[in-house]
Amino acid sequence: MGKKTVIKASPDLRQAAQRKREKIEFVRENLIIPSSLREHAKGRKYFIRTYGCQANVLDSQTIEGILIEIGFAPVDDPFDADVVILNTCAIRENAEDKVFGEIGSLKALKNKNPNSIIAVCGCMTQEPHIVKILKETYRQVDIIFGTHNINRLPTLINESLEKNQRLIEVYSKEGEVIENLPCHREDKYKAFVNIMYGCDKFCTYCIVPYTRGKQRSRKKEDIMKECEELVKQGYQEITLVGQNVNAYAKDLDDGSTFADLLDSVAKLGVPRLRFTTSHPWDFTEEMFKAIANNKNIMPAIHLPLQSGSSDILKKMGRRYSSEEYCALVDRLREIVPNVAITTDIIVGFPNESDEDFEKTLDVVKYVHYDFAFTFIYSPRIGTPASRIEDLTPMSVKKERFKRLVDTLAIDFKAKSDAYIGKTVSVLVDGLSKKDSNILSGYTDTNKLVNFTGNPDHIGKIVNVKIIDATTYYLKGEEVDG
Ligand code: SAH
Ligand code: SF4
Ligand code: F3S
Repeated sequence: MGKKTVIKASPDLRQAAQRKREKIEFVRENLIIPSSLREHAKGRKYFIRTYGCQANVLDSQTIEGILIEIGFAPVDDPFDADVVILNTCAIRENAEDKVFGEIGSLKALKNKNPNSIIAVCGCMTQEPHIVKILKETYRQVDIIFGTHNINRLPTLINESLEKNQRLIEVYSKEGEVIENLPCHREDKYKAFVNIMYGCDKFCTYCIVPYTRGKQRSRKKEDIMKECEELVKQGYQEITLVGQNVNAYAKDLDDGSTFADLLDSVAKLGVPRLRFTTSHPWDFTEEMFKAIANNKNIMPAIHLPLQSGSSDILKKMGRRYSSEEYCALVDRLREIVPNVAITTDIIVGFPNESDEDFEKTLDVVKYVHYDFAFTFIYSPRIGTPASRIEDLTPMSVKKERFKRLVDTLAIDFKAKSDAYIGKTVSVLVDGLSKKDSNILSGYTDTNKLVNFTGNPDHIGKIVNVKIIDATTYYLKGEEVDG
């Protein structure tokens, strides 16, 4: 049977949905690293795989910071690692399937290195039914922890090693704001900065408010300090991150707002400032002003639509109608004429009718998106939408999905083509993944560009003349000036 499983805490969806606490607790963490673990880590390696959104990317940077502080070194191949961490995403079933596939393949690591530790964390482990499957079926997993106790990782690894036990410690709670944890940023030019954790919107299809807890905003002074430091280090781009960035500070009562934060961070002088995700419902006139007044706030807004049917939007709990959404797009374009607008759209919410779907296509044709992430609705256990009896067959959803993707692609291509002949500024990321003679980077509107240019300019903002375009990226050559 192998190792004994010790359950320290298990997730509970009902607790996860509670929003009782008024006051957010701010914790300044002093990381506890047992000295025996430091000894153990010498010469040993870690591998981390991150699924899902920027919230997970940032959590992984914290986890890496912690592992490096313990003394582990990074490695590119999970089968060379002594500690493997999978930071998982629960947003749709296919996201979860990928993780199960990877855990399955990691069984081979245990044969090669029986003392290795496999840990699973992130949004999936906040789901009780997933923990049950991992516990019972995936015996190779040694540690299951959650989104609320990343700071406990050193203690959990140490205990699992010393006692040769499997450990489960996942809390379902509203959560705190934990400052002062280490952070390891691989990228030296672009940085994500958390401005808030959790979500209180409870869109009826979405698991995030259950996996991430209550909306908790960081204090403006802590965010500013982090951004100042990044600017000092020469970062060219900062993206402010949260599930609902424009609801920032609604949970604090210190008078701060997202518009004020955006304006203050912009004034630090970082060349490029972005933010994601904004909820259409939380957009304010002050935000428009901040965007209009600061040239370093990039003309690219991600504005999730989800559905173009006001009826479905209501059932989703989105708090805006398709008319209000379109009016917001109009206002945005008035303020920032060259703004690139991207979105998320869900097809096949329970009992979405043909008419509902046509309305989504209508909005798509009205807005002319630069890019969109499209999804077929995936029922998430514990959410209100998952309890609706859904009479729409999957074949119909798939047909709609294809029509949506085809309709969107027409706009993507037209938007790309409009760049041909223009010279745009590009932040150079590095060499193209497909061709090492080609550089790649993003325009201010967040469009991918592959171009010939000077590799010494990686990490700089350069001018690129666009000579060709495909649906998803631009091709060009670096020019002087
Ligand atoms: N906080 C962001 C989105 C986070 S999740 C927002 O509110 O916009 C990213 C996207 O995943 C969502 O915008 C939505 O389009 C999609 N999504 C969320 N739950 C889903 C589900 N159950 N099925 C399909 N897509 C889903
Ligand atoms: Fe999910 Fe809605 Fe919160 Fe976005 S705003 S994370 S879609 S509940
Ligand atoms: Fe996925 Fe959790 Fe983000 S469910 S999308 S990783 S908040």
